Amino acid sequence: MRYLITGGCGFIGSHLAETLLAADHHVTVLDDLSTGKIANIRSIENDPNLRVLIGSVTDEQLVHEAVSQCDEVFHLASAVGVKLIMDRPVETIDTIVTGTQVVLKQANRYRKPLLLTSTSEVYGKSSSVPFEEDGDRLAGPTTKHRWAYACAKALDEFLAMAYWKSTNLPVVVVRLFNTVGARQTDQYGMVVPNFVKQARAGAVLRIHGDGRQSRCFCHVSDVVRGLVGLMNCSGAYGQVINLGATEEIAIADLARRIIEQTGSSSTVEFVSYESVYGEGFEDMQRRVPSIEKARALIGWQPEKNLTDMINDVGPG
Ligand SMILES: NC(=O)c1ccc[n+]([C@@H]2O[C@H](COP(=O)([O-])OP(=O)(O)OC[C@H]3O[C@@H](n4cnc5c(N)ncnc54)[C@H](O)[C@@H]3O)[C@@H](O)[C@H]2O)c1
Repeated sequence: MRYLITGGCGFIGSHLAETLLAADHHVTVLDDLSTGKIANIRSIENDPNLRVLIGSVTDEQLVHEAVSQCDEVFHLASAVGVKLIMDRPVETIDTIVTGTQVVLKQANRYRKPLLLTSTSEVYGKSSSVPFEEDGDRLAGPTTKHRWAYACAKALDEFLAMAYWKSTNLPVVVVRLFNTVGARQTDQYGMVVPNFVKQARAGAVLRIHGDGRQSRCFCHVSDVVRGLVGLMNCSGAYGQVINLGATEEIAIADLARRIIEQTGSSSTVEFVSYESVYGEGFEDMQRRVPSIEKARALIGWQPEKNLTDMINDVGPG
C-alpha cells in the first residue's frame, strides 16, 4: 500500500511511518516542520520506500499531488495541545480547520480512505466519565481561548462525518487521549516529557493547580497499533472511536512516580493555572475513555504501562 501521513515528522506520525515502512508499505510524509522535526524520522530517512514532502496541509496543490499518489491517508497534521493554541491563537485554528478542509476535499476527489486524529479535548468539561464517543460534549465559552482547540478539532470531526454521510467517503475519526513515548517533545506543555526532563535534570517539577486532576496515559506503540487496525477495519468507516488508556493517575502522583522511577532528587511545587496560562484558564478534573468500541471493532487494548512510558520518553 502507499500511505500518505500528514504530520509524519511529528511525534505520533513518525512512529506510524516507522511501523508502516517496517511492514513493507510505501510512505509519503507531508509536514511543515512547525512542531515536528526531521530528527524524528532519522531512523527511516534512508528507507527507499519513504518520501518526505516539506510543506503545509493548507497548500491545496501540494496536498492534491500527495493524495492523488497514495492509496490511503492518515491525517495527523495539526496544531497540537492547549499551550500552543494559547500562544498562537490565530494560526493554530487556521491549521486545524483549513488544513483538514483541504485534505478531506482532496481525499474525496480521489476517493481515498482517510483516518483523522482528533482528541479527547473535544469532550471538554464533560464529567460523564468514562467518555463514550456519542456522549454529550461540554465546551467552555469562546472568550476562554483554551476551548478553541476542542472546538476546532470538533469541527474537523463534523466535516469528516459530513463527507461520510454525503459522499460515502470512507473516513475514520479517532479521538486520541494522552499519548506518550520516545521523541515526544516537552516544548508544548505535554506533562510526561516535561516532568521526566525536569526530574532527570534534578529541577523542580511544577504541578498546575492542586495536582488532583487525573489523566490516563497510553504508550505511542499501542496508539499506532490502534490507528493501523482501525484504518484496515471497514466497520470503523463513518465512526468516531476513542483510543487511550483507562488507568487514571493524579498529576501530583505522576510527578512523584517519575521522580522515584528516574532516581531523581527533584522536589515538586504547586503553581496556579493563571500563572502559567493567564487569567480565567479552565481545566478538567478527569479524562477517561471508554474503549469498548475499539475493543469490539479490532480487539484493541493497551499493552504497555506507565513504567514503560516513563522509561521510553527521551530527550524531546
Ligand atoms: N500526543 C497526544 O497526546 C495527542 C492527544 C490527542 C490528540 N492528538 C492528535 O494526534 C495528532 C498528532 O499529534 P502529535 O502528538 O504527534 O503532535 P506533533 O506536534 O508532534 O505532530 C503534529 C505534526 O503536524 C505537523 N504540522 C502542523 N501543522 C501543519 C501544517 N499546516 N502542515 C503540515 N504539517 C503540519 C507538525 O510539524 C508536526 O510534525 C494530532 O492530530 C493531534 O491533535 C495527539
